[in-house]
Amino acid sequence: MSELDAPVPMLDLSSQFESLAPEWLASIRETGAAGSFILGPNVRAFEEEAARFTGVRHAVGVANGTDALLLSLRALEIGPGDEVITTPWTFFASAEVISLVGATPVFVDIDADSFNLDVHQVEAAITGKTRAIMPVHIFGNPVDMTTVQALAQRHGLEIIEDCAQAFGASWGGGRVGSFGAAGCYSFYPTKVLGGYGDGGLVTTNSDELVEKLRRLRNHGATAPFMHDTLGYNSRLDEIQAALLRIKLRDVNAIFAARRQVAAAYDAGLADLEVITPPRPQGGEHVFNLYTIRSDRRDQIRAALTEARIGSAICYPLPLHLQDVYASLGHRPGDLPVCERLADEVLSLPIYPEMTEAQVARVCEVVRAALSQV
Ligand SMILES: Cc1ncc(COP(=O)(O)O)c(C=O)c1O
Repeated sequence: MSELDAPVPMLDLSSQFESLAPEWLASIRETGAAGSFILGPNVRAFEEEAARFTGVRHAVGVANGTDALLLSLRALEIGPGDEVITTPWTFFASAEVISLVGATPVFVDIDADSFNLDVHQVEAAITGKTRAIMPVHIFGNPVDMTTVQALAQRHGLEIIEDCAQAFGASWGGGRVGSFGAAGCYSFYPTKVLGGYGDGGLVTTNSDELVEKLRRLRNHGATAPFMHDTLGYNSRLDEIQAALLRIKLRDVNAIFAARRQVAAAYDAGLADLEVITPPRPQGGEHVFNLYTIRSDRRDQIRAALTEARIGSAICYPLPLHLQDVYASLGHRPGDLPVCERLADEVLSLPIYPEMTEAQVARVCEVVRAALSQV
């Protein structure tokens, strides 16, 4: 089969494994020999390295990105009676954790260009119960943190950044995860900095919060077998930390490769009737996903599937209209931008090892799909 008609997966995780395997496996062997499996030297070193990379004082490794958000809300003592403003255009976990601590997610519509929370609509959603804003840097695209910080300051609100899809993205020269009380990362394998299993991290500049987070991830323990609060078993695994340290060293190459694929798509799709993702004014995108818009989305997707090319719809149903949030009383039409985009968006394959020929093939199939009447 020539490269011209080979399948193109949405994501190819196995192609990077061989290059990382020798160093990672040696590190696992060292961990085994030392018998240091839980919160060992790799977790501590990764926390320091990730904090330095992000430009914050502290980082705390946790079991996954969902827990990074959950523990941050708990550490900030956000709970029943509180409201947290967030976006309906995100993976469910962002809102789920707000509800899990007993608080209420308040959904604000998104901006059609960035797919991010429309920061200009946030102020109208602030009430006496609002405790925090949770911006989500969706698809790797940074939220306008200048505006979010100004709003939070004016109204005395916490900021919890959901950086799950945006490791390394920046706004105004600062990395995401450095703008609020807590920055929450996921190392789920599909993420920009992906592990080979689950993993997560919270970044913070607060000496007080970091202590709370360290206790919460370890059953609320203040000392061995001493507990002053209910916590979780939510520790970043030593073996994942070993891999993440190796990947972090060369993470700039990952960003560059993703941006190159994105630029090749921009060029290959430029003369077609699709909307390609505009670049953020004031920040750097890391392209966890490359998402186009078209009113003929389903036609394009069918052609890609037929050509054995992966694609994804992120997201088919905004969170305010999910069954689980029926009690919030939203109706179709409440948040019109995200509801319209749910019918138009299509994420195309993107991963650092993707070749120019693969990008060209995807673009050709999109072109052929749109040329059909
Ligand atoms: C925006 C967003 N928030 C939170 C999460 C949760 O992360 P995890 O799967 O590591 O729990 C994810 C991804 O899975 C995500 O995409």
